[in-house]
Amino acid sequence: MLFVRRLDPYLGILLVFAAISMPCGAQDGGLPGLQARLRQTIHSGHGGKGRSVSPDAPADATGGTYHSGAMLHCENCHVMHASHDGQGYNGSAQNPSGYPHLLKAANSLELCLGCHDGHAGIPDVVAADTNGLTERSGGMFGTPGAVNANGHNLGPGATYLCLRCHFRGPGDPAPEVTCTDCHNAHGNGRARNLQWASWPEGTPPLGLFTDPSATDLEQYERANVAYGTDGTVNLREVTNICIDCHHTLSGSYYVDSDGNGIPNKHPVTETEWGATVRVRDGDARHTTDSAHWVDGTGAGFDVPRSRFLNNPATSYSAATSVSADNTVFCLSCHKVHGSENPDGLLWPEQGGTVGPNGCDQCHNKSAS
Ligand code: HEC
Ligand code: HEC
Ligand code: HEC
Ligand code: HEC
Ligand code: HEC
Ligand code: HEC
Ligand code: HEC
Repeated sequence: MLFVRRLDPYLGILLVFAAISMPCGAQDGGLPGLQARLRQTIHSGHGGKGRSVSPDAPADATGGTYHSGAMLHCENCHVMHASHDGQGYNGSAQNPSGYPHLLKAANSLELCLGCHDGHAGIPDVVAADTNGLTERSGGMFGTPGAVNANGHNLGPGATYLCLRCHFRGPGDPAPEVTCTDCHNAHGNGRARNLQWASWPEGTPPLGLFTDPSATDLEQYERANVAYGTDGTVNLREVTNICIDCHHTLSGSYYVDSDGNGIPNKHPVTETEWGATVRVRDGDARHTTDSAHWVDGTGAGFDVPRSRFLNNPATSYSAATSVSADNTVFCLSCHKVHGSENPDGLLWPEQGGTVGPNGCDQCHNKSAS
């Protein structure tokens, strides 16, 4: 990974740099101190504004999430005495010695995949879809434990979060993610039980909405999922969870670091950091073409309309409304688990470079 190569020579500098660039917190050394400072910076906004998220922020408008509240079924994942065969997930053999935390598998990844890989009727998040959905909203991971060029590498996530990417030495295994980085195993009332990996208990409600008429597994179809935010801590965009790990790809502080209005990284909406990036924002400078985006035909529309985020939108119907005010966010271009395309992109790369499809839905450059 590029950032690994960039970070390795600068490991010593990172801590010093972090101490300078982190506006809040004591200058205590070591990773816990670094993490505390980063957490403050990520989830309070640059400039040292106070933290506004309370752990008991109101629950999602979306509701009805499995593995949460009344739908948290202990026996899905735990077995009390490990004394009978057939008490593993889906009736598999149980280890008579039991597993830590009384889990039905040796670790949380194996536990989740015991149901979520290749079992009909349960959302399948690895490789081909047992359930034959048209297109899974989250996409799919590759083989657990293997490097996946088409999305996140999936593993048990045994390494401390920050050390997955930082302070890495030659020969260290490739960085990876695990299910319970992003999903709360005991549910948190947020859409898909999503959480801030670096601070789970701080997670605000997140605006991922499913079509109210979708039943069963249909609610996991890309076509039945839409994204909204109200721009406040009461309902953040779902990609607010990305910055816990990808903390330098979002927000004007990083995207337009010289502050001249011409971005140096692709701009994205990140309401916690005050950024809302509408398709029409580039009309005046002809960097984007919002009429083309709204029209929905021609250059770029050889692939389905890219996903967008509405701000404000606090319902499925508001979140699906197409207009020049639609905003661009990480999931406009990426599937979070991964896809059949490099970097988990929504559309294929062409000849080793990203072609106009997808991009030109908003930019309309190849037509002119
Ligand atoms: C979707 C899977 C899943 C379900 C359902 C589930 N758990 Fe867990 N539970 C886990 C995992 C994974 C861990 C290990 C957490 C860790 O590694 O820190 C765990 C750990 C625990 C722990 C010890 C650590 C802690 O967080 O307190 C307790 C107690 C617990 N579970 C109780 C329950 C009870 C009671 C229920 C039902 C109301 C339940 N769990 C339902 C997955 C689940
Ligand atoms: C015993 C089988 C089983 C295990 C083990 C299991 N799940 Fe699930 N999971 C399900 C089922 C069934 C659904 C609901 C499918 C549906 O909506 O009909 C589900 C749904 C989900 C959803 C979508 C929730 C929603 O309503 O939007 C997430 C996210 C999820 N599981 C994550 C996990 C994670 C993370 C683990 C491991 C900690 C895990 N699951 C372990 C069976 C399981
Ligand atoms: C728990 C930390 C974590 C979170 C949260 C996280 N990522 Fe990542 N991401 C990683 C790591 C580690 C890598 C590098 C290794 C890999 O590819 O898995 C990565 C790599 C990626 C890649 C490159 C994949 C490839 O094929 O090389 C994309 C794209 C990506 N992340 C998008 C996202 C998006 C979008 C979100 C939010 C919806 C997100 N990530 C949230 C840790 C995270
Ligand atoms: C998915 C990989 C990934 C994870 C996980 C991750 N980081 Fe980073 N971090 C990066 C990258 C990439 C940069 C930018 C480095 C660069 O510019 O060379 C960065 C930069 C930083 C910086 C410098 C801030 C700045 O403004 O440039 C600090 C401090 C930091 N990370 C701390 C942490 C802490 C603490 C954690 C754990 C909560 C963490 N990181 C987890 C990838 C990661
Ligand atoms: C990097 C963060 C991240 C990791 C790691 C992750 N998920 Fe997800 N997951 C998400 C997000 C975000 C969504 C919502 C995606 C969307 O609709 O665009 C999601 C959606 C889902 C869904 C709903 C089905 C779908 O396709 O949208 C299930 C089920 C699920 N995840 C289970 C899992 C399991 C099981 C694992 C581990 C094997 C896992 N996730 C790992 C972030 C993550
Ligand atoms: C406009 C489309 C677009 C948006 C929006 C976007 N990406 Fe990407 N991303 C790409 C493309 C294309 C690549 C492939 C390599 C490249 O061109 O940089 C990529 C590569 C990546 C990579 C792997 C390479 C690297 O630079 O680290 C990560 C991680 C990633 N994206 C995360 C994110 C996250 C997190 C967000 C939201 C904050 C996001 N992306 C928003 C298009 C996008
Ligand atoms: C969903 C809409 C959308 C998609 C898809 C999209 N972009 Fe953008 N892009 C924007 C918006 C909005 C801006 C900010 C425009 C502005 O303020 O001038 C932007 C800015 C840019 C800029 C900076 C323009 C400047 O000011 O110099 C470039 C370059 C760019 N995008 C390239 C791409 C590429 C390449 C892809 C495909 C990988 C892509 N975009 C996909 C909406 C999108």
